[in-house]
Amino acid sequence: MARLTSDKIRQLIKAQQAGYSLAQVFYKDPDIYQAEINQIFLQHWLYAGHVSQIPKTGDYFTFEFDTESLIVVRTTSGEVKAHMNVCRHRGSRICLEQTGSQKHLTCPYHAWNYNLDGELIAARNMPADFDMSENGLHKVNVALLGGLIFVCLSDNPPSLDHLKNDLTEVKALFGFERMKLAEKKSYRIPANWKLAVENYQECYHCAPSHPEFAQVHAMAKPPKVFKTAKAEFANANHGNPKFKQLNHYFDLAAVGQEGYQYDRNPLVRGALSGSLGGKAVAPLLGEVSDYDGGASELMIGPLSYFLIYDDHMLCYRFLPVSIDECICEVSWLVNDSAIDGQDYQLAQLTWLWDITTQADKKIIMNNQKGVDSRFYQAGRLSDMEYFQQSFLNWYLLTLSK
Ligand code: FES
Ligand code: FE
Repeated sequence: MARLTSDKIRQLIKAQQAGYSLAQVFYKDPDIYQAEINQIFLQHWLYAGHVSQIPKTGDYFTFEFDTESLIVVRTTSGEVKAHMNVCRHRGSRICLEQTGSQKHLTCPYHAWNYNLDGELIAARNMPADFDMSENGLHKVNVALLGGLIFVCLSDNPPSLDHLKNDLTEVKALFGFERMKLAEKKSYRIPANWKLAVENYQECYHCAPSHPEFAQVHAMAKPPKVFKTAKAEFANANHGNPKFKQLNHYFDLAAVGQEGYQYDRNPLVRGALSGSLGGKAVAPLLGEVSDYDGGASELMIGPLSYFLIYDDHMLCYRFLPVSIDECICEVSWLVNDSAIDGQDYQLAQLTWLWDITTQADKKIIMNNQKGVDSRFYQAGRLSDMEYFQQSFLNWYLLTLSK
C-alpha cells in the first residue's frame, strides 16, 4: 500500500461527508492508524483502572495498547504512579504479568533494579561515567478522579480542571473513592477500534440486537418515546445534582481542557438497575439513598465511558491492539463494603453487560467484514446515531491537526 502523507490524509478528511459513516480507508490504512495513535491515544487521558486494584505498596497492574505498556503502581509513600514498562538499559519489558506486587521493579533481562517511583537504584558493572539518576523509567502523567485512575502519555496533557470541578458532586454522590473492582472482563475483537467505539456510541442497534438491554433501558425505545420519558424523569427530579447535564464532550470541550459529558437517563418503568428484569443487584453506592430508576452516562476523555446505576458502576474502554484488532474492557465496580456472595452475586451483577458485550463483539466483527469488502461505501447515519456523529466530527478534526 502506498504511504499516505499528512496532506493526503487531510484531503481524505475533506472528502468525508457529514452524516455518513467513514470511508473504508480510515479503517484500513496503516498511516491513518499511526496518526490516530499519535494524535488521539498518546494525547488524551485514558482510564487505566481503580485504586482498589492496587491497595498496598508495591501492588501494580499493567495497562496496554498498540505497542505500549505502562506500569501503574502504588508507591512506598502511598501515591499512585505510572511508568513506561520499558527498561532504560536495552528496552525489555519489566513487569511481565498483568498484575502483581513487587518491592522493586526489576528487569528480567539483566536485572537493572528500579524503585517503585521508577528511579534506577542498581545496575551492575556499568562504566564509571554512567549516571543512574538519568536512567529512571519514563514517567507517565497520572490523575485521580475519586478512585478512578487516568493516565496520559502526552508531555502537555489536556487540563482536567473543568472536569474535576464539574464532577465534584457526582463523584461524591456515587462514592467513586469508596468503590471496589468486583469483576473485569476483556473482549478481544478482531476489528478496527473505531468500529467498537462507534457501536458503543449509538443505540440505533439496541432494540434489534440487545433484547436484554431493551428490557431494562428506556433508551432502546423509539426516539420520541424515550425523549418523553427522559423529560418526565428530569422534571420529576429537578434540582437533584444526580440529574445535572454536562455537555463538554469531543469538540464541545473548552480549548486546552479534556472533554467530558454527564447525563442521567431513565430505565424502563419499574427497573432499578442494569440486570435481569431490572432487579437491584448490589448495595447502593456512596451517598445514594434510594433507587431512582435511572442510570448515568459519564464520559471522561474521548475513550473512557462509565455507566452508573444506583448500585453499581460499569467502566467501558476501547483500546487498539493493532489496526484490525482491539480490546473492549469492561469493569464492574460496587460499594467497597459489599461482600461477594453475600451482598451481591457476581453472575447476577455481570449478566446484562456480559451478554450485551458478547453480542456487540459479534456485531462489530460482522461490521468489519463488510467494511473490508470491495463494495463497502460510506453509509448515511440515522438520527439515533447523533453521538457517533459527534465522535466522527471530533475524530476527523483531531486527525486533521
Ligand atoms: Fe533491562 Fe537489560 S534490558 S536490564
Ligand atoms: Fe451494543
